[in-house]
Amino acid sequence: MNVFGEFAKYYDLIHEKKNYQKESAYINGLIQNYNSGAKTILDIGCGTGNYAFAMQELGYQVNGVDSSSDMIQIANGKLSKSKYTSSSPSFSCGRMEDYDCQKKFDAVICLFFSLCYQTTDDLIFKSLSRFKDQIKDNGILIFDFWHKDGVLSQKPELKIQNYSTEDLEITKLVQPKLDVSFDCVGIDYTFYLENKKNEISKFKEFHNLRYLKPKLLVKFLKELSFKVLKIEGWMTEQKLQENEWSGIIVAMPDWSQSPKKT
Ligand SMILES: C[S@@+](CC[C@H](N)C(=O)[O-])C[C@H]1O[C@@H](n2cnc3c(N)ncnc32)[C@H](O)[C@@H]1O
Repeated sequence: MNVFGEFAKYYDLIHEKKNYQKESAYINGLIQNYNSGAKTILDIGCGTGNYAFAMQELGYQVNGVDSSSDMIQIANGKLSKSKYTSSSPSFSCGRMEDYDCQKKFDAVICLFFSLCYQTTDDLIFKSLSRFKDQIKDNGILIFDFWHKDGVLSQKPELKIQNYSTEDLEITKLVQPKLDVSFDCVGIDYTFYLENKKNEISKFKEFHNLRYLKPKLLVKFLKELSFKVLKIEGWMTEQKLQENEWSGIIVAMPDWSQSPKKT
């Protein structure tokens, strides 16, 4: 499934209030806590590069990868405006379930529910396995996820949101549908764009996202010989609560349990 095609153009506008700097400081805290001195990051599902730029600003060398060429084009477009000349993130296109950067990193991160776009057990397992192959000795993996109990207690809701640019009035309609047999939420996004001449156009995108029980993720991580270091509520620094929508996991490959892929 291809996601973030035309949607990519409006992604940063829609998320302009998301505090990537503050969230990156939280991720930095986790990285340094478990792998002090870490310097390199692979940001998988990097989107338009917002975490990558913020982490680069914190002193890391970041490689970003995403399956959407439109998102990567926007991330690359920001490079020319970036204040970094000698050191800036680099971006490439790839799918997390088969991506091989041919390099290893101190930390692999996969944030803002990029892993949830993997809707089957097989794809999640394959992705975690690819993540592991790109982690250095003492390196760590950090990813967030939609927490099943939280999603089922809060229930996804229909939303209508409005945004403005100099040229456009944008209305985004979000129509989610819970599919409990596959632990997924199918979301129909419809964008209505009205220009200065009051001409209206629209486009649609369908996104299917998986919600997960931490227990299942722990099972996959253990099968792949990861040690699970932490599971907590997103940005809470507390145990993941039953009614919380988003959780985060920090894990480290236990190389004593598994052969290294060179
Ligand atoms: C909600 S966005 C998050 C982007 C970015 N991490 C951020 O926080 O702004 C999810 C991203 O995951 C990417 N994605 C979805 N499936 C993917 C896959 N199989 N491999 C790589 N990226 C994927 C999408 O293209 C999208 O950019």
